[in-house]
Amino acid sequence: MAADVARLSAQGVVPGLTVVLVGDDPASATYVGAKEKASKAAGMQGGTIRLPATTTQDELLALVERLNADPTVHGILVQMPLPRHIDPDTVIRHIRPEKDVDGFHPENVGKLLIGHTDGFVSCTPAGVIELLLRSGVDTRGAEAVVVGRSNIVGKPMAALLVQGRAGGDATVTVCHSRTRDLAFHTRRADILIAAIGRAEMITGDMIKPGAVVIDVGMNTKPDASKAKGTRLCGDVHFDSAVTVASKITPVPGGVGPMTIAMLLRNTVRAAELAMARTAALAGSR
Ligand code: GUN
Repeated sequence: MAADVARLSAQGVVPGLTVVLVGDDPASATYVGAKEKASKAAGMQGGTIRLPATTTQDELLALVERLNADPTVHGILVQMPLPRHIDPDTVIRHIRPEKDVDGFHPENVGKLLIGHTDGFVSCTPAGVIELLLRSGVDTRGAEAVVVGRSNIVGKPMAALLVQGRAGGDATVTVCHSRTRDLAFHTRRADILIAAIGRAEMITGDMIKPGAVVIDVGMNTKPDASKAKGTRLCGDVHFDSAVTVASKITPVPGGVGPMTIAMLLRNTVRAAELAMARTAALAGSR
């Protein structure tokens, strides 16, 4: 992404990403720190606005409006989860869709579902597709099983896999907490995507031999050897799955870095689209 940022910067527009973090959830602080570091390393401008947990919804909406109006800000990301007194949907709807580099705004979600490519796609599912494409995994006609139905991962993941284009054309099953026989479905998967948020729930015996396994989970489990007493783990029990799968992503180090790369890609695209709008406006004068 650094090459793209340099190219746009040479044309006079430095892509800008502003991340907003409300409160002091330690996991969110870690994710936001990684996003800020990566955007800086790629040469972007912007940074993180850290607000106290006592911030009111109106204060947050006012900040979003200020960022919406700032031409140096091409991408806005409000880190989730928000404190309980703030409604996430209201905040997401306030972000201008053309600055919604998270792909959470209903307009961008709708475009994804219809197959329009001029919107922004949620970063984690976009990163999973990029991983599959670059690893030579053929999704066409494959049985893809997505475990989890969140708006951030499960639903957009299914929408991407079913599109009639590269990285799509799969036969998609979406499983969730009410699925009657989870293992029945996971054992049918040529491509298994675990996005449930339950530590090591998918074990080797639930995986078809030769399947491609993508682990989106970000959980913690007890580990006495760590200073914190815990360590990061995925939704897949790696040690039993790795002997069955043909390809598998680890946690940490698999999908996580891809999410950040896609955030940078979305921000570069937001900057390019903003430049195109400015040029069109100048041309129409
Ligand atoms: N919390 C967990 N994942 C995400 C993400 O992709 N974007 C935002 N804004 N918050 C998150």
